[in-house]
Amino acid sequence: MDAAGARANAYGDRVQPVEVPAGRLLLRPFRPSDAPAVLAACQDAAIQRWTTVPSPYSEGDAVAFVTEIAPAEWAADTGTPFAISGAATGRLLGSIGVHRVDRRHGSAEVGYWVAAAARGRGVATEALRAVTSWSFAALGLGRLELLHAVGNRASCRVASRAGFRPEGSAARSRGGERRARRCRDPWSAGGRRPHRLSAGQGAQPDGQIQKKA
Ligand SMILES: CC(C)(COP(=O)(O)OP(=O)(O)OC[C@H]1O[C@@H](n2cnc3c(N)ncnc32)[C@H](O)[C@@H]1OP(=O)(O)O)[C@@H](O)C(=O)NCCC(=O)NCCS
Repeated sequence: MDAAGARANAYGDRVQPVEVPAGRLLLRPFRPSDAPAVLAACQDAAIQRWTTVPSPYSEGDAVAFVTEIAPAEWAADTGTPFAISGAATGRLLGSIGVHRVDRRHGSAEVGYWVAAAARGRGVATEALRAVTSWSFAALGLGRLELLHAVGNRASCRVASRAGFRPEGSAARSRGGERRARRCRDPWSAGGRRPHRLSAGQGAQPDGQIQKKA
């Protein structure tokens, strides 16, 4: 993304579906051919527990996601759902998306999952760093929010390493309660209450937790 492109988009231009190189990873729009890999990955109990994917997750859910839901988010300019793929292999490793893009306030939310077989190798952390930097430049965001359940230690670690800093429990804020409800209540019970984190323009890409200004 050149400076002119970033500047233009900061003033509200729509972002077309793009590919974002991220070292050994490539973030790219979903394709219809991703449906079988999405279907297989989303059978995972952790993805069904900690994200908002339908549960149980059917072939129809996967097909609808890659052919309708994800393209519609790009088209409506409300989100940028990326497939996380291996740069060399092209294999689908996961999903990461910037959602609820609010250009007026320069904010959005980010969510992700990584297929069980690809975990523990830094895939989510690298993808989150890349999509965060990209969204600040390409979408003109000043703030990206991330919600994870209190009990989701792996996601907490990913967020911290990608430069997000804790802001407390979203269950205590109006927005957090709204998001929990929209997620069909995966987080409202006890220890599954969400933590709210964010990264500002000054977030450290090397994973340092940003000090509050
Ligand atoms: C969370 C998730 C995306 C992490 O993907 P990943 O590619 O394995 O993540 P990374 O390899 O970049 O980093 C994982 C970190 O969490 C740590 N971790 C993994 N499991 C953990 C656990 N049970 N408790 C504490 N830390 C854990 C790893 O050690 C690693 O930290 P480290 O590099 O300091 O050792 C993946 O586990 C997942 O898809 N989970 C289900 C869906 C989900 O939770 N999505 C996020 C919703 S907010």
